[in-house]
Amino acid sequence: MRGAAHSPILKTGHLLGTQLLSVEEIVGLLDLAEDYVTLNRTAEKKTSVLKGCTLINLFFEASTRTQSSFELAGKRLGADVMNMSVKSSSVSKGETLLDTATTLNAMRPDILVVRHQDSGAAELLSRKLDCSVVNAGDGAHEHPTQALLDALTIRRHRGSFEGLVVAICGDIAHSRVARSNIHLLSKMGARVRLIAPRTLLPADAERFGVEIFTDMRKGLEGVDIVMMLRLQLERMTGAFVPSTREYFRFFGLDREKLALAKPGALVMHPGPMNRGVEIDSVVADDIDVSLIHEQVEMGVAIRMAVLDALARGLPRGGRNTP
Ligand code: NCD
Repeated sequence: MRGAAHSPILKTGHLLGTQLLSVEEIVGLLDLAEDYVTLNRTAEKKTSVLKGCTLINLFFEASTRTQSSFELAGKRLGADVMNMSVKSSSVSKGETLLDTATTLNAMRPDILVVRHQDSGAAELLSRKLDCSVVNAGDGAHEHPTQALLDALTIRRHRGSFEGLVVAICGDIAHSRVARSNIHLLSKMGARVRLIAPRTLLPADAERFGVEIFTDMRKGLEGVDIVMMLRLQLERMTGAFVPSTREYFRFFGLDREKLALAKPGALVMHPGPMNRGVEIDSVVADDIDVSLIHEQVEMGVAIRMAVLDALARGLPRGGRNTP
């Protein structure tokens, strides 16, 4: 494995968001993840760098990719992994986030991976608990491992980020994936564009310091990477778009709109996809342009890198050892 045996890659001992990461930390995680891409393509797929570590996955919101890849990542690194199912826990009896988390903390985990509907939930836990905390998505705020896996996927295809034009399209207002990607890609030297109807842009979108387009056809001109986002209907408290059919006409990615981007432009989507709403199946399933399955593969490698990086910062024998 690359890297000095116990050099800390993540300075704070947590991964709460990409806004707080330095370029060195990002590059360190991407480089380490490359080793895990290689390992995951072997028959064995396992190492023991997290032997003796306990990882708890605490998901208050639905998840397919993120939760399963953190579980696989932990297991492939030799950790003991526990998945807390919030539906069958005392959360359904009204226990607060903090009470649930401090209860789990008393079981002496080394790393807690948390997804929660409120922005700031992971940061709150990182201040109250004595284990490392990884943000697996907090409200519309951040989803750092998604942006890291997206960056790894892009770097493998384009080599570097400098000068690359990346368009993030769709429901930006409700998207933690968009925020984490904006911070990370801008730091790495990419030029980020947001493309969305006004109603799906955050009120303060200008503060991100990126280009904004409300016309997708104009916005796609000269773009290297088109990153599509799901319409997050479950976070909407009213009608943000007239109809999904109308939305697809103006903001759905089909062949005709993709043809306006740079020749050879690549398409990404964090999943889950709403086919025929934000993306046409013909584009999503075209293996010459779509990186969607590769993103999932990179997700396991990135999560292994993050867990490894955090474990390097743990005191010998675990953070909680008296
Ligand atoms: C995203 C999420 O949950 O923030 N999904 C994911 O982690 N791959 C995006 C989404 O739900 O649309």
